[in-house]
Amino acid sequence: MKRLFPYIMALILALPISAGLALAADGPVQAGAKALIVYHSKSGHTKALAEEIQRQTGADIFFLDYAEVYPTDREEFSDKVHEEQRQDARPAIKASPDGLEGYGVVYLGFPVWWGDMPMLFYSFLDQNDLSGKQIVPFCTSGSGKIDKAVARIRALEPGATVLDGLRLGETVPVQAVTDWLKGLGLVD
Ligand SMILES: Cc1cc2nc3c(=O)[nH]c(=O)nc-3n(C[C@H](O)[C@H](O)[C@H](O)COP(=O)(O)O)c2cc1C
Repeated sequence: MKRLFPYIMALILALPISAGLALAADGPVQAGAKALIVYHSKSGHTKALAEEIQRQTGADIFFLDYAEVYPTDREEFSDKVHEEQRQDARPAIKASPDGLEGYGVVYLGFPVWWGDMPMLFYSFLDQNDLSGKQIVPFCTSGSGKIDKAVARIRALEPGATVLDGLRLGETVPVQAVTDWLKGLGLVD
């Protein structure tokens, strides 16, 4: 028994012993931290997902928008945002959410455009320091993955903990959202 003692202690210490902390893939989730969902959506899919996350978590929600009016023509719009990406542009944002410093968890939700998040989010991350917060990315897309955007967010916000992202298609399966939130410890 004496010889087993160090191993038993090591096992106990490896468990998440701090009360109120749940372990997520990338670190402990701040239980009870105020949460904000910052999202953009053009045709409504990401909006529906953002609103479902809001419904399940009770987080505040903010629509991140362009300061400028963008073309309504599909092709012109598509060309414009593609060009922004090629130029690594930082389009002007209409407004940032108030009181960002008061939030411990910030969800970032976006449609995948040309394999990445809209440049609007690069502007947002350039203008707002999210150090010390947990960033929870999510997106909708035709088939494109979220991985590139998550890697870019991690690089842009080295002082934040960026949790694993959720990518869904153009519909919102409620249970998949619940499973993801539970898996990250963001809901009970
Ligand atoms: C300009 C533009 C570029 C897109 N690029 C991609 C892409 O690279 N990969 C992909 O899977 N879907 C792509 N899509 C499809 C959108 O990601 C998908 O329809 C998404 O659900 C739209 O979200 P929203 O309804 O919130 O705007 C693109 C759509 C647009 C308008």
